[in-house]
Amino acid sequence: MTDLLLGQTLAYRQNPLIEGANAAVVDTAGGVVIEGGRIVATGPAADLRAAYPQATVHDYGQHLITAGFVDAHVHYPQTAMIASWGKQLIDWLNTYTFPEETRFADPAYADSIAARYFDLALAHGTTTACSFATIHPHSVDAFFRQAQARGLRALTGKTCMDRNAPDGLRDTAQSAYDDSKALLSRWHGVDRLEYVLTPRFAPTSTPDQLRAMGTLWAEHPDCLMQTHLSEQLPEIDWVAALFPDARDYLDIYEAYGLLGARGLYGHAIHLTPREIDRLAEVGAAVVHCPTSNTFIGSGLFDMGGLMGRAGLRIGLATDTGGGSSFSMLRTMAAAYEIAQLRGLALHPSQLYWLATQGSARALHLDHKIGNLAPGMEADVVVLDLASTPAIAQRHAQASDLWEALFPTLMMGDDRAVHAVWVNGNRLTR
Ligand code: GUN
Ligand code: ZN
Repeated sequence: MTDLLLGQTLAYRQNPLIEGANAAVVDTAGGVVIEGGRIVATGPAADLRAAYPQATVHDYGQHLITAGFVDAHVHYPQTAMIASWGKQLIDWLNTYTFPEETRFADPAYADSIAARYFDLALAHGTTTACSFATIHPHSVDAFFRQAQARGLRALTGKTCMDRNAPDGLRDTAQSAYDDSKALLSRWHGVDRLEYVLTPRFAPTSTPDQLRAMGTLWAEHPDCLMQTHLSEQLPEIDWVAALFPDARDYLDIYEAYGLLGARGLYGHAIHLTPREIDRLAEVGAAVVHCPTSNTFIGSGLFDMGGLMGRAGLRIGLATDTGGGSSFSMLRTMAAAYEIAQLRGLALHPSQLYWLATQGSARALHLDHKIGNLAPGMEADVVVLDLASTPAIAQRHAQASDLWEALFPTLMMGDDRAVHAVWVNGNRLTR
């Protein structure tokens, strides 16, 4: 079975944060050939029609065909409390987040929210998410089972917290180690699923728990590790009081074996020069969560200062429910606006790269997902670049693909998502 998708195509041969817009490959009459869940060819539509005469043709006209979006930091358990009013980080966690995560003690609730999350993510064109679960091991099972049923590449881990969290939402250093290890053995590498070690952040783990997670990571160095870093100034003050011997926030993670190339550090807004140097030196990933950073009032991520740092990986993420949208289009718009506030105009090719290859690279999955190229897994989104009257009238003025795309990046949402392909299968809605 061979499928040939025709339309405008956007792919990348290099990193546009470093190389500029020329790193992108645009074909206004392009195509993608899919066989056995993989992309086997890309190129001009006419060439592909001639080379694959037996293929089933899906002609998407002027729609844009790209890799599916990769959301590098999300909390699927916060799906139902997105857009909760009026609090900043610590109060927001205590008032809204922890009570909602407590509800995941019920496995049936975890199942229903995991299903709801993936339905929403796919409707928004997100084909891979790297999510925090809750402290409940079955919240990981629920997420992976729902991903597996949909054929998705997906990543999560049991969130570990053994202090500064309410009753019912704390584990221990030992149980975090044991439960994480058991979940890792059950799920890591099964189908398209990856287990991610997930200490929530320094304030909710004792030194013993951080050490236990560092030990587990050393025992499973092929796993990713995700946490939060320097999101909000009161949080950073609190962390400094809890760990008086640390040089800075990142130093805590490093001291307990939680700094490495496979580390994902969410937010990373208020970094010191030493922290930036160290993250770049080890080749770690910082994950930009722009709608969350404005919604919770955290601050302005320094894209301009970080994107030129050799070695440093940068991902893009919704951070729902701290983030205010499930849409990576909305997220690109927020990233653009935040960079503007710091004097940088990100090019649409850079924004789109962050939402696909950049996030995949942060997850060390850029050889499998996040681009249109032979050998890549066939996770694809097809965008209508004139999905609403407001976007359509602006789109009508466009003179090249970037101008045609930018109104959708700034104003688009799930209405722009015309079709989604997962692992070579077209989703039916
Ligand atoms: N820091 C620790 N936990 C969280 C969370 O759930 N959301 C956000 N935005 N920041 C966090
Ligand atoms: Zn987060």
